[in-house]
Amino acid sequence: MMSISEKLNKAREYEKEKYPQTIEQKPVFHFAVPTGWMNDPNGFSFFNNECHLFFQYNPYYTNWGPMHWGHTKTNDFINWKILPCAMAPDAVYDEAGCFSGTAIEHDGKHLIMYTGVQEKTDSNGNKFNVQTQCMATGDGIEYKKLETNPVIDGTMLPEGSSINDFRDPKIWKDEKGFWSLVGSVAPDKSGQLALFYSENATEWKFMKIIDYCKNQYGKMWECPDFFGLDGRQILIVSPQFMQSDGDEFHCGNVSMYFVGDWDSNTLEWKRNKPFMLDYGLDFYAPETVQTPDGRRVMIGWLQNWDNHILPDGQTWSGIMTVPRELKVCGEKLIQNPVRELENYRCNKFTAENVCVPGDGQIVELEGLRGRILDMTLCIKNSHSGCLSTFIAADEKHQTKIILDLEKCTVTIDRSRSGLFKDFITTRSMKIDGEKDEIKLRILMDKWTVEVFANDGESVMTSLIYTPVEADRIYWTSTGVLKMEVKKYEIKNFM
Ligand code: FRU
Repeated sequence: MMSISEKLNKAREYEKEKYPQTIEQKPVFHFAVPTGWMNDPNGFSFFNNECHLFFQYNPYYTNWGPMHWGHTKTNDFINWKILPCAMAPDAVYDEAGCFSGTAIEHDGKHLIMYTGVQEKTDSNGNKFNVQTQCMATGDGIEYKKLETNPVIDGTMLPEGSSINDFRDPKIWKDEKGFWSLVGSVAPDKSGQLALFYSENATEWKFMKIIDYCKNQYGKMWECPDFFGLDGRQILIVSPQFMQSDGDEFHCGNVSMYFVGDWDSNTLEWKRNKPFMLDYGLDFYAPETVQTPDGRRVMIGWLQNWDNHILPDGQTWSGIMTVPRELKVCGEKLIQNPVRELENYRCNKFTAENVCVPGDGQIVELEGLRGRILDMTLCIKNSHSGCLSTFIAADEKHQTKIILDLEKCTVTIDRSRSGLFKDFITTRSMKIDGEKDEIKLRILMDKWTVEVFANDGESVMTSLIYTPVEADRIYWTSTGVLKMEVKKYEIKNFM
């Protein structure tokens, strides 16, 4: 067996002891951190026919700290098996953190490319971080960092590019060789995406900058993902320091996508206008993977940087979204929960012709409650009025999902969800209101709410902080509205 560093061993011993203590508190069909803190998904990839997911991980505290790579795997995107921590910041070039990256399978090995962060001191004694791209290979459990690390460093970038903000490589391979797209900062202090190529996956050369942010969409573009889908090319990035502009983007960290076209011979990338990937309060830094049966599946961090609190007594922080299948429709992406979730549905509840009469009257259906569920509302032939769905409700708490049929928006309002800080509580998204049938699919898993409108046309994801006992569901409306309700519980398989 490969010898492992003291730092990695310590992390593994720690998680082994702590993980069992929190299993009960975790969501059921969402992956959550074993212990401590988790942010971005990393290395989402298939290896030996199993889907692996790594994650930005600080095992010891519930806040961000020295980044390790935690590890889990699944056969169906729903039931995740925790694996021992895969990497610790135990080399000189990553002693300040093993930051985000991606993975592929090659020649029977699992190949990771990630960002190593090293702290240095300048001639005036000021400390600064240097970010480089590093690699590790593994067998699905043990990962060995390459002796030649770092394999890509800031000196390979065009002059004036930042060596401090150079991170989150997306690696892929094709018939020509290996490619890596890395987030970087241009001399104008805004994001650029640097493309590298390698014949053998170890020696890399700079090819070109394929896209510039030009201070138009935030600053640095974190966590790029770049892949072909339905005959088009998709670029996903997570900009920092976005300023809201119109209805589309909110401030701070957002995740957005461009549908475009990529010429892999000339390395020309042409893009259309960007859209938000998720309009909720908690979604960031997603990664995608191609499944053996040809689907493109995305997972994101169900949280965001400026918007983070920890409920009293919770000793872990970090949940991932339900993995979503992606499709292209025109210039937009359609997202729906992976179909495997349907295998975990049980206790079906349906109600047809439910009438919500307006005038503030509450409609509550006998037998309909819960906090671990997959529920679809289908609102028929209605183009005026507002339907408010109250979930995770009791006398004191509620989270409201408001469908405004005139403005054609869906809004989440978690201001009464049990928050104890002055926090952002609402966010809205546009939907196509012209349809004869408007559908809202709501997934709830104790503290998570994911709303898929009109079969994945737009999505919003948010955390709520409500005690799990609050499980009432009811409706009010302005105007008379008719709908069909279909709800399943999700089996607790843990
Ligand atoms: C995105 C990010 C990445 C970085 C990682 C550090 O959330 O800031 O750019 O690699 O988190 O944990």
